[in-house]
Amino acid sequence: MNTGIIELLAFGMIAIIAGVFLLVSMIRELTSTERHKWFLGIGLSTGIIAFSLKIGLIIVFSMFPGPMLALFPEREYEQVLIPGPSERELRSAPGKGSYTWKALPESAPFPRDNLPSLEKIALGKRLFFDKRLSADDSLSCASCHEISVEKGGSDGLPASIGINGQHGNRNAPTVLNAAFQQVLFWDGRAASLEDQAKGPLVNPIEMGMPSLESVVEKVRKIPEYKEIFSQAFAMERPITIDNIAKAIATYERTLITPDSPYDRFVRGDSSALSEKQIRGMALFESTGCIQCHSGPNFSGASVFGDNTPYRIFPAVPHTEFEIQHHLSEDLGAAYPTKDSDRGIWRIPSLRNINRTSPYFHNGSVESLKEAVRIMARVQLNKKLSNSNVDDKSIQWSETDSQFSVSEHQALSDTEVDEIVAFLQSLDGELPTHFLPKGVTSFQ
Ligand code: HEC
Ligand code: HEC
Repeated sequence: MNTGIIELLAFGMIAIIAGVFLLVSMIRELTSTERHKWFLGIGLSTGIIAFSLKIGLIIVFSMFPGPMLALFPEREYEQVLIPGPSERELRSAPGKGSYTWKALPESAPFPRDNLPSLEKIALGKRLFFDKRLSADDSLSCASCHEISVEKGGSDGLPASIGINGQHGNRNAPTVLNAAFQQVLFWDGRAASLEDQAKGPLVNPIEMGMPSLESVVEKVRKIPEYKEIFSQAFAMERPITIDNIAKAIATYERTLITPDSPYDRFVRGDSSALSEKQIRGMALFESTGCIQCHSGPNFSGASVFGDNTPYRIFPAVPHTEFEIQHHLSEDLGAAYPTKDSDRGIWRIPSLRNINRTSPYFHNGSVESLKEAVRIMARVQLNKKLSNSNVDDKSIQWSETDSQFSVSEHQALSDTEVDEIVAFLQSLDGELPTHFLPKGVTSFQ
C-alpha cells in the first residue's frame, strides 16, 4: 500500500482516539473538578487540531493529487526489485572464486530517477508491444525485438525492416540483458535505455513517427492509456515522452536471463555444463575472448566495471573475412569523425548469442561457428586450422641458451566447436511475463 495512504489512515486513527478522549472527558465532567476541566480542554483541542489537519490534508490531496502522491515514493516496489550488485560487490563476494566467471545478478540495476514499480512495468510492456506507436500502426518495438526462444529478443534478419518495408543497414541486437549494458546500440551512441527508447519511434526507417511530440499526441488520444499512465506516474499530466521512455526502459530492465546452464554451473551445479562445454569455456578464456567479452554479461561494455565499452573491429586489418563480409563499410562510433578507416564498436554481450543469428553489426554472418572463427582471426590474430599439424612456435634464445615454446598457435575446428558449445550454454530462461495480457501472438 502507498505510504501516503497509510499516513492518512494514521491521522484518522489519531482523530478517533482524540474523539474518544473527548467523550470520556465530557462524561467525567459531569462529576466536575478543576482537574477535569483541564482534561476536557486538552482533549477538545487535540481533537479539533487532528480533525482540521485531516480535513486540510484531504482537501490538499484532492486538489493536487499528483504532486502530493509524488511526495511519498513507492517504497514497496524498491524492495521487490533490488538493484543488481556492483562490480566491487561481485569481486568481494567471499568464497566465490575468481572474477572471471560470475553469474548474472537476478535483477538489473535501475537509475535513481526512474525507480521501478509494477504499474510502470505493466505500462512499459504494453507500450513495447503497441503497434500504434509507429506512423502506420504496423510496427511495435516487439516486431524487431521478438521476445521468444527462437528470436531471443532480436528479429532474425541481417538488417531490420522498418515501416513501408524500408531496409536499415544494421542488425537488431537483442533487448535481453540490454539493461546490463553501459551504452546502447552497436556504436554505443545511447547512454541509457531511457535515451535509447526515443530513437526508434522517430527513426524514419524504423517506426517513422514525424516527431516525439506526435508520439505523445497519439498516445494521449488512446483512451486506455489515460488511466494506466496515472497509475504508473503520480503526476497531473503523466503522458509525456520522458514517461513513455521511462516505462519502456523499466519493462526492458525485467527482460533479463540470469538462469542459463552457465549461470547454474558457476553457482555450483557442476552437472549444468557438458564436458565439451567446459572445454569450450576454458578455451574462451585461454584464446583471449575474455579480454573483451568479460564479466557476468560477457561484455566489457557492461555496468559491472568502468572499462571502456569500445573496441576497434576488425582489429587485424584487411583479412579475407573483412573483405568477404564487408566488416569495414560501416565504421560505427568512428564514423562521425571520419578520421579513421577502422571501425569502432561497442563490445556486445554474448548472452543468448545462439538465438540471435545472424551476427555482427551488419548481420553478415549466419552461423555462430563462422562468427567465432572470424572473431579469433580478426580480433585475436589466431590462425585457424583443420589439421593435426604440430603448430608450436619455437624460438631459441642465444643469450639465455634456452627455448621459448608457445604451444597451440592455431585454433582447430574441434576447438571452435567447443567454444560454440560453450556459447550455447549462455541461452537463459526467458522471463515468464514476456507476453502482455491479452496478447497471444507477436504478429
Ligand atoms: C524496425 C526495427 C526496429 C524497431 C521497430 C525497434 N528497434 Fe530497437 N533496434 C533495431 C536496430 C536495427 C537496432 C540497432 C541500431 C544501431 O545500433 O544503430 C536496435 C537497437 C535497440 C537497442 C539497443 C540494444 C543494445 O544492445 O545496444 C534497444 C534497447 C532497442 N533497440 C529497443 C527498442 C525499443 C524500446 C523499441 C520501440 C520503441 C525498438 N527498439 C524498436 C531495430 C528496431
Ligand atoms: C578485442 C576485443 C574482442 C575480442 C578479443 C573478442 N571480441 Fe567478439 N566482439 C568484439 C566487438 C567489438 C564486437 C562487435 C563487432 C561488430 O560491431 O559487429 C564483437 C562481436 C562478437 C560476436 C557477434 C555478436 C553479435 O551479437 O552479433 C561474437 C559471436 C563474438 N564477438 C564472439 C567472440 C569470441 C568467441 C571471441 C574469442 C575467439 C571474441 N569474440 C573475441 C570484441 C572482441
